[in-house]
Amino acid sequence: MRRALAVAGQELHAAWANLLFNSIPAAMIIPRPLRALIYRCRGMRIRSWRIGAGCFFGGADIEIGEKTFINVGCFFDASAPIAIGANCLLGPRVTIVTSSHHLDADRTLGGAPVTIEDGCWIGAGATLLPGVTVGAGCVIAAGAVVTHNCQPYGLYAGVPARRIRSLDIQGEAATEKGGRSGSVAVLRTRV
Ligand SMILES: CC(C)(COP(=O)(O)OP(=O)(O)OC[C@H]1O[C@@H](n2cnc3c(N)ncnc32)[C@H](O)[C@@H]1OP(=O)(O)O)[C@@H](O)C(=O)NCCC(=O)NCCS
Repeated sequence: MRRALAVAGQELHAAWANLLFNSIPAAMIIPRPLRALIYRCRGMRIRSWRIGAGCFFGGADIEIGEKTFINVGCFFDASAPIAIGANCLLGPRVTIVTSSHHLDADRTLGGAPVTIEDGCWIGAGATLLPGVTVGAGCVIAAGAVVTHNCQPYGLYAGVPARRIRSLDIQGEAATEKGGRSGSVAVLRTRV
């Protein structure tokens, strides 16, 4: 009985936390600055308010840099830290997985952090697996599954993601209002 009550308490706590920090901020009706404020109240280190609706954050150990844009429906399991740099673009339904199970019969739970450095574009539906670092200025093609680190300024595509091209930095990107932004680069492919 005591065990059942403890489990019920944990489930209630999880449901309440999910309502407060996932269901409510993920709603389409919530304006983006308010959404970012709610995430900050949860303890996430967020320096951008450009986070779309429908995202799921499984923990609070998440850092999102300045002017980074997170599109709708992204999934961050966050059982290990996730760090996303400044001036990044995450397309719709990007999945960042930090937890994993060992291949032994017990399927012991493990995990490792994921890092996305400044100025990356992660295409729609891409999946980043535990422990990977995506180097600065990379483009990850739609649907790619990133299983290893990506060296900076590369276009990576496929399952598993492979570097298919290197990218050049051409000047500075315009900000949302057409001004100049300090660090992000407009990426042009080197053919
Ligand atoms: C990678 C991408 C940027 C295209 O780059 P590009 O320089 O125009 O590349 P190309 O179309 O010339 O394709 C180059 C090669 O990569 C392949 N490729 C392109 N996109 C791919 C993808 N998503 N997965 C696997 N391979 C891909 C092409 O088939 C081509 O292969 P080939 O040379 O054997 O024919 C684009 O395909 C992509 O994935 N865009 C993401 C769009 C998105 O997520 N939008 C959401 C808005 S945030």
